[in-house]
Amino acid sequence: MNIEGKNVLITGGGGGIGAALARRFRDEGARAIAVVDRDLAAAQAVATELAPRVRALAYQVDVGDAAQVQAMVERAEDEAGPLDLVCSNAGVFPRGDSLTGDSNWSLSWTVNVMGNVHVARAVVPRMLQRGRGYILVTCSAAGLLGNMDAPYMATKHAAVAFAEWLAIQYRTRGIGVSALCPLGVMTPMLTEVANGNPAAIQGVLAGGEVISPEALAECVVQGIAGERFLILPHPVVAERVMKKAADRDQWIAAMQQQFAIT
Ligand SMILES: NC(=O)c1ccc[n+]([C@@H]2O[C@H](COP(=O)([O-])OP(=O)(O)OC[C@H]3O[C@@H](n4cnc5c(N)ncnc54)[C@H](O)[C@@H]3O)[C@@H](O)[C@H]2O)c1
Repeated sequence: MNIEGKNVLITGGGGGIGAALARRFRDEGARAIAVVDRDLAAAQAVATELAPRVRALAYQVDVGDAAQVQAMVERAEDEAGPLDLVCSNAGVFPRGDSLTGDSNWSLSWTVNVMGNVHVARAVVPRMLQRGRGYILVTCSAAGLLGNMDAPYMATKHAAVAFAEWLAIQYRTRGIGVSALCPLGVMTPMLTEVANGNPAAIQGVLAGGEVISPEALAECVVQGIAGERFLILPHPVVAERVMKKAADRDQWIAAMQQQFAIT
């Protein structure tokens, strides 16, 4: 899919990767861009920046709330027109222990998994009716590999699985689906995680180069143009996925060695 003339919606569009995608889609000639975030001021700031080159809208929504997402999609289609590309990008990386409490698991599940389900539930019937559309799910390399905090790693694996299920179900009925799986991207999320939990970020830093959100947006435009399922802005991820698939035991041992786990 080419972005020119398309109506786009981006969750988590108020900052980081989502905001960079919005700017890049504007530059690619999108017709309308709906910037969705739980932080209304952030969404409005990005929308203001996008206008007037594109019809820019801002909505405050918590993607963990199915009713809010449903109402927002209805409103966005009324105000912007039929959505061609929907980027389910909002995500969280709550810091802390992986075993000692439920709150990080619950928040990660609600946003990183159910957020994508709520978005798909709202947009898939509309796209099916039109026989066209595209859904980009921002997952993570943590959805294919390890080692990050368990709630993040497990929910991103679930996000990849859900995106794959969407692709299997709907590609033949006109809906394109991609799963975006980057390693480190220089955004507020990465900085916050690095500041609060240096151990958690080791996985990212050990993984390779931290790229800019703008470089990532370039890969996304190319990936969507090629309608590829996996969009891997860090090519090394593809090699590691092969290694992991070839021998899981060796992979686990390599992770233990890399993170000095004895
Ligand atoms: N930065 C990285 O290194 C990296 C790497 C791989 C994947 N990702 C993924 O990319 C996506 C975007 O991350 P980012 O780095 O731009 O993070 P970020 O924290 O910089 O931006 C995320 C945006 O999502 C919004 N948001 C969070 N929870 C929300 C909710 N419940 N409802 C609506 N909006 C919500 C935040 O307000 C924020 O504006 C996430 O899914 C993240 O897991 C990031």
